[in-house]
Amino acid sequence: MAESFNLLGRNMYDLDDYTAEEITAILDAAVVMKEINQRDYKKLPTLKGKTVCTLFVENSTRTKISFELAASRLSADLISFEAETSSLQKGESLQDTVETLNAMGIDLYIIRHSSPGSPQLVNKYSGKPVLNGGDGRHAHPTQALLDMFSVREVLGTLKGLKVVIVGDITNSRVVRSNLIGMKKMGASVTICGPRTLVPGHMEEVYGCTVEYDLKTALKDADVVMGLRMQLERQTEGLFPSLEEYSKHYSISKETMQWAKKNAIVMHPGPMNRGIEILPEIVESSQSVIIEQVTNGVAVRMALLFLILGGKMG
Ligand code: CP
Repeated sequence: MAESFNLLGRNMYDLDDYTAEEITAILDAAVVMKEINQRDYKKLPTLKGKTVCTLFVENSTRTKISFELAASRLSADLISFEAETSSLQKGESLQDTVETLNAMGIDLYIIRHSSPGSPQLVNKYSGKPVLNGGDGRHAHPTQALLDMFSVREVLGTLKGLKVVIVGDITNSRVVRSNLIGMKKMGASVTICGPRTLVPGHMEEVYGCTVEYDLKTALKDADVVMGLRMQLERQTEGLFPSLEEYSKHYSISKETMQWAKKNAIVMHPGPMNRGIEILPEIVESSQSVIIEQVTNGVAVRMALLFLILGGKMG
């Protein structure tokens, strides 16, 4: 199980710091963790004595709970920092917050924050490994890992696949981490959305293909991933209306006919059903959206295990 790859003490700010071999080692470890999660007794003693802190300063359901479940399944002590009831509300800085937590003996932090670069700051203030649970529009590497795990589980490999990511590309940290990770793993990624929601120079920066027409983008797709339409940005006039957006970019049974017959449908969540994705396709056999959530626990267990140096058995 990934013994030749030493991830001990590593940070995970994004996937650009990880090689394809290291990503494969994490995904392989997650296969073992998933098998453990399917047992009646789901707990391992492997991180007994270690303390993990989820420092979420932005809202989350999936990432926070799956990391907390992962820590708990590996028998680590867990500190679930509640931003809303913390002294951040009294004006305490992130630096003082981290130094305070650190004084209590945290071994690893997982941070979600609206500011890109906040994971690096937490590492600077704590000197402890930090996993990025989503920093602004920048990166969400553990989401990309669980997405890659889910693709590999169903389709066997990422190598040679065509992955199409559709939606609000500008505001998505998920797309950026997936572009880095999936390319390293040998997939070709096409991004698709209205011109107003696709930043310039994506081809040059990420080596992806950009399409503005959904039918063209979906041709020969093996994997189709929808992204959350950020409803709060609707008033900015980036597209005429939600109905208009949905008409041209919604993932549905009809539009999935433009992809390969056995193509899978993904979404990182949370979803706006009826806008970027229709309920009929969410609930269809092509969808792996619920499996993505399940796999998130296994992938995050694997990461905690490898970075905190847990021993099996
Ligand atoms: N996909 C994702 O990051 O979901 P949460 O915001 O619920 O964590």
